[in-house]
Amino acid sequence: MIKGILLGIVLGIAGVAACVYAYFATGRAPIAVEAAEMPFERKFARMGLHSYLDKLPHLEPQVPADEKNLLEGAKVYKSHCAVCHGLPDVAKTAIAEGMAPKPPQLFKGVGVTDDEAWESYWKVKNGIRMTGMPGFKGHLTETEIWLVTVLVKNADKITPAVKVELTGSPTTLAAPGAPAVAVKK
Ligand code: HEC
Repeated sequence: MIKGILLGIVLGIAGVAACVYAYFATGRAPIAVEAAEMPFERKFARMGLHSYLDKLPHLEPQVPADEKNLLEGAKVYKSHCAVCHGLPDVAKTAIAEGMAPKPPQLFKGVGVTDDEAWESYWKVKNGIRMTGMPGFKGHLTETEIWLVTVLVKNADKITPAVKVELTGSPTTLAAPGAPAVAVKK
């Protein structure tokens, strides 16, 4: 009796493993960017990421989100992030359009302004496997990672000066009555 149940369990597990193997081995898994997602792909990837992140220390931002730091963060963002994550009022690049999953446009909609800063800091530092999001550890300093993190956390609150640093143009963001900002040459 017990033997029968055990045999059933072993055969069941082997059956599932064989199906997963066959799915990949017979070329059914999605490969092209426009192919439909794998069953539960997004659900499992998000679940894995969030249960992992929840266990990490929730650090406070190590630099204040003042104008000077947001300007410095903008410099880092222009060189290392804008090609994928976009700039305010600028059309998406071909690179951003051609990726799967698509990089969220961090100056459109909520971006990551509703995420905790430590979470974005961790993602910038370590990257996210199998998504195209690079890890910048060893290539940006700790301070640079925090500067760009506070920028994307505050992407909905940037001043015209920060927008000029990002895009070279202050248009559309100047609040009524705000002082005019010269475009940097
Ligand atoms: C080569 C393209 C690419 C570059 C360059 C890049 N990223 Fe990403 N990034 C991605 C993709 C793709 C994702 C989406 C990952 C996913 O779906 O989980 C992502 C995700 C993120 C997220 C998490 C977004 C969310 O909604 O959870 C943050 C924050 C982020 N990137 C910040 C940055 C910053 C800051 C830089 C520059 C230092 C940067 N990225 C550079 C492609 C890129």
